[in-house]
Amino acid sequence: MINIKSEREIKLMKYAGHINYLTHEEIKKHIRPGVRTEQLDKIAHDFIIKNDCVPSCLNYEGYPKSICVSINDEVVHGIPSKRKIKEHDIVSIDLCVGYKGYHSDSARTYIVGKVDKEVEDLVENTKKALYEGLSKVKSGVKIGDVSHAIESYAHNHGLSVVEELVGHGVGTSIHEDPDVPNFGPAGKGQVLKEGMTIAIEPMLNLGSKEICMTDQDDWVIVTEDGSPSAHFEHTILVTKDGYEILTGE
Ligand code: MF3
Ligand code: CO
Repeated sequence: MINIKSEREIKLMKYAGHINYLTHEEIKKHIRPGVRTEQLDKIAHDFIIKNDCVPSCLNYEGYPKSICVSINDEVVHGIPSKRKIKEHDIVSIDLCVGYKGYHSDSARTYIVGKVDKEVEDLVENTKKALYEGLSKVKSGVKIGDVSHAIESYAHNHGLSVVEELVGHGVGTSIHEDPDVPNFGPAGKGQVLKEGMTIAIEPMLNLGSKEICMTDQDDWVIVTEDGSPSAHFEHTILVTKDGYEILTGE
């Protein structure tokens, strides 16, 4: 079932989204070679709590930390640890913030120092693919139109689209209906309506689209061929004429 949010719910989601944005800004200041991913987790955790919110990933289906930090070939759900960020890494930060029972979900990928031009383009084009998808959003549009825009942009730029992980509704739970895939035909799927809150989140790979788990833990998902992967995500509110980003400035 797809929820349409009330004015009151939207207000709470806006606050959760704003703190999500500010948490990303806080983490950004600390991303550099030598920093341990668990230090980023602590910075985020403390910042979220200080702002009367909760880190919604913590204990979500048993997830042990407050944010996800996924490096290079890690697509999503990298668990913060003693691992240090290195020059030439690409680092994806994915985090959820809850306020009075309402959540926000947003991800960004950072480049640390210098990387190959093709990796730089992967990161830049994954962000642009998100905005391509967003540009289709308004009340009355089908989800397939958003999905197809993301997929076309990715393929036109020589990138592959992860299919097993998709965008989703967001609200009283991090993951609600509907699914928002990053691929598929235009003109299909459910109709977006004013008042829906959804997360759109392309995960694009430089190599093949295939992903797998490792034997490292039950969480981290990597590209099967070891190629780098980037991830950008915003939680948005669907409006009559477009959308409002809840996890932006
Ligand atoms: N943004 C992540 C997702 O949509 C949130 C996962 S919470 C975690 O999958 F606990 F799985 F990390
Ligand atoms: Co998400």
